[in-house]
Amino acid sequence: MKGVLICGGTGSRLKPLTDVTNKSLLPVYDRPLILFPLQVLLDAGIREIMIVTGTEHIDQIAAFLGSGASHDCAFTYAVQEKPGGIAQALGLAEEFVAGDRLCAILGDNVFLQDISKTIRAFRGGGHLFLKEVHDPERFGVVELRDGKPVSIEEKPLQPKSSLAQTGCYLFDHRCFDIIRGLKPSPRGELEITDVSRWYLDHGELAATVVDGPWVDAGTFESFYHAAMLVREKRLQEQSSS
Ligand code: DAU
Repeated sequence: MKGVLICGGTGSRLKPLTDVTNKSLLPVYDRPLILFPLQVLLDAGIREIMIVTGTEHIDQIAAFLGSGASHDCAFTYAVQEKPGGIAQALGLAEEFVAGDRLCAILGDNVFLQDISKTIRAFRGGGHLFLKEVHDPERFGVVELRDGKPVSIEEKPLQPKSSLAQTGCYLFDHRCFDIIRGLKPSPRGELEITDVSRWYLDHGELAATVVDGPWVDAGTFESFYHAAMLVREKRLQEQSSS
């Protein structure tokens, strides 16, 4: 399985911090944000990882991550010329994934629960990780019936459930054909939610609800919240060691 770490975009909701550096290099308590989604991939045993980033601050990302040797993995870099959506960013990984299965994760997602078992067990189709949230309208929202997804909508005004689609996606190689067929959404982006919807419409989408903490650190409030959660975790680790 290949990993794709998606860290492009403008980070406009975190300006002026993101004028200084890429959102995923900003510090979350004791380390740069990007190390959290990277850890999800590493915990799942994924060792070939493509980093997709925009043109701004790519030098800083590459200088920080390097070849991957210090994380016992190999990084390949791809540049998304303009932020045309998460699905467009993922589309850049087609040659790299080369017919394999993939785990794509957004560079601003902090999971403090181990989801590696589910990632390792993935065999095909699509698989999402969901989290119960109080503000679902900020996210892709998934409705489950008997544990199976029955609808998925990107940032709906009237969410059908309180289950947010987190930014970790397991897809087989068909996702690249699906991305090629996508049309831009009203906000002008190729939406990752439309990729998931293809698997849903073909009866091939599964989902796991995450119990432990998860944060999309894309706003000042959620960024701050992520730092607090990490701090709590570190203090717990210290007191139990
Ligand atoms: O975090 C989970 C949510 O992420 C999902 O619930 C939504 O369905 C999904 O659309 C996404 O929503 P966001 O509004 O949080 O997406 P955002 O524009 O913040 O982009 C998320 C990451 O993807 C961010 O780290 C930058 C990267 N990105 C984004 C765009 C639009 C790219 O690399 N290229 C892009 O063109």
